[in-house]
Amino acid sequence: MFKNILLGVDGSKYSIHAAKMAAALACCMDANLRIVVAHATVPAYLGEPNFQHAITARLKESRAVLDEAIEAVGEVPGELKTEILEGSAAEVILRVAEIRNNDLIVMGSRGLGQLRGLLLGSQSQKVLQHAPCPVMIVR
Ligand SMILES: Nc1ncnc2c1ncn2[C@@H]1O[C@H](COP(=O)(O)OP(=O)(O)OP(=O)(O)O)[C@@H](O)[C@H]1O
Ligand SMILES: [Mg+2]
Repeated sequence: MFKNILLGVDGSKYSIHAAKMAAALACCMDANLRIVVAHATVPAYLGEPNFQHAITARLKESRAVLDEAIEAVGEVPGELKTEILEGSAAEVILRVAEIRNNDLIVMGSRGLGQLRGLLLGSQSQKVLQHAPCPVMIVR
């Protein structure tokens, strides 16, 4: 049913739940899985060398988030691809889903945000509103 699953992760416990769910689905459906981590744009006004240092630090953080998700996913039968991209999570996930023709997006209901009362974070809400394909929100 689903052949190209897209998973967004931010290092939160919710996105780890999402990673495990995406992996289970990929296994059941013999699907490919693409894991995406978005990181915030580094402002150019920082100037050098601060600009480069900030970019290096963000990439390192994103790499750690990705590695944790790869571990949670484990073995999948199809292709496992990963991407670290600049921008807001929702923008990045929506853009990738369109370009890569994903047929399912998997995300956590919440992320690292501090507003505990919310059922859905702003990024999962935005993806739900604009996604070109079905979205699974994992809690
Ligand atoms: N930087 C990111 N890169 C990739 N996926 C992300 C990123 N941030 C969030 N997500 C995905 O979206 C899900 C929901 O996170 P979201 O950011 O919407 O909630 P939140 O952090 O609780 O709230 P908010 O960011 O609105 O304060 C996460 O579990 C994860 O799957
Ligand atoms: Mg968030």
